[in-house]
Amino acid sequence: MAITIEQSITSNSDLFLKNAWYVAALSDAVKHELTPLKLLGNDVVVYRTNAGLPVVLEDACPHRKLPLSMGRLIDDYIECGYHGLCFDASGNCLKAPTQDRVPPTAIVKSYPAVDRYGLLWVWMGEQDANESSLLFIENAEDPAWHITSGDFLDCRCNYLYLVDNLLDPSHVAWVHKDSFAAKGTEDTPLDVQESEDGLIVSRWINNCDAPPFYQPLLKFSGKCDRLQHYEVRYPSIAINKSVYCPVGTGGPNWNPSEECYEMISYNFLTPVDENNTRYFWLQQRNTDPSDEAVTKSITKGARQAFLEDKAILEAVHLGITRTKNRPINLALDAGALRFRSLLKQRIKTESQETK
Ligand code: FES
Ligand SMILES: [Fe+2]
Repeated sequence: MAITIEQSITSNSDLFLKNAWYVAALSDAVKHELTPLKLLGNDVVVYRTNAGLPVVLEDACPHRKLPLSMGRLIDDYIECGYHGLCFDASGNCLKAPTQDRVPPTAIVKSYPAVDRYGLLWVWMGEQDANESSLLFIENAEDPAWHITSGDFLDCRCNYLYLVDNLLDPSHVAWVHKDSFAAKGTEDTPLDVQESEDGLIVSRWINNCDAPPFYQPLLKFSGKCDRLQHYEVRYPSIAINKSVYCPVGTGGPNWNPSEECYEMISYNFLTPVDENNTRYFWLQQRNTDPSDEAVTKSITKGARQAFLEDKAILEAVHLGITRTKNRPINLALDAGALRFRSLLKQRIKTESQETK
């Protein structure tokens, strides 16, 4: 049975896949200081040890639940700001003032955390963190490629609206008119494919003009074949690949050549709670790896485009929350609805396994 948008968001408990890595912050933003964050509805406190290792703990003292982020960071441990219970980077209690014995229940939950690609990743589930499941970015070490240092936006919408958007190549025709829209983006049929890790919506638009954002970046002139590859991996990592190659050289059997331009946008949609998402991204390209001006223009263009998405998706969230009538679906929603259904099944299985 087809799933609808409002069926796919039912309650807080079945909203998030927990045994997964989520981007919690840009690595550079995490310092040797206590910083409160909310991830998947959980309050956490984040800091870096003197040795530079990231620490993520539940932001609540087990005594009277004062947020530990209101306490003091002393060397690598936290002293609670109310009665001085002290917790190390693993969440173990080191000291309980006014008594000799540390209560065995004085434990703070700690979340596995790791820095990669300039991002701080946190494992939010109960199962052992699986480091091999962390995203692998191809060509990240290749000097011919460049990857931006990352950026983020706070969006007042459920993360699934951002996921929908990143499985919907058609929206660029209306939302990104001055950047990504070009003939063919409004009506070329879409291909939907399930993969082991998620789902891909894609299409080749052949013999077209490059859109304004990409025109100055290409290394060839004239018409092009354009690939829009919109992929989302469970639970909410969206990989958006744009390929432009000289007309006649694109299509399903496409082979990368020096002339072809590739831009891969990695988007990380971290649920803050059911109504808010922190949207992180990185952009990777296969040209001009040391050209700062190109990097600047891509960084600026990406932020501008994602602000356009943010405005739409915040209003969509509000609109769907407010109306009584069900939103209708179109053919272009096929990928997003299928992904929601598959993710919902995974969340359900996970929640049954942890009962
Ligand atoms: S609330 Fe933390 S020690 Fe009392
Ligand atoms: Fe967009």
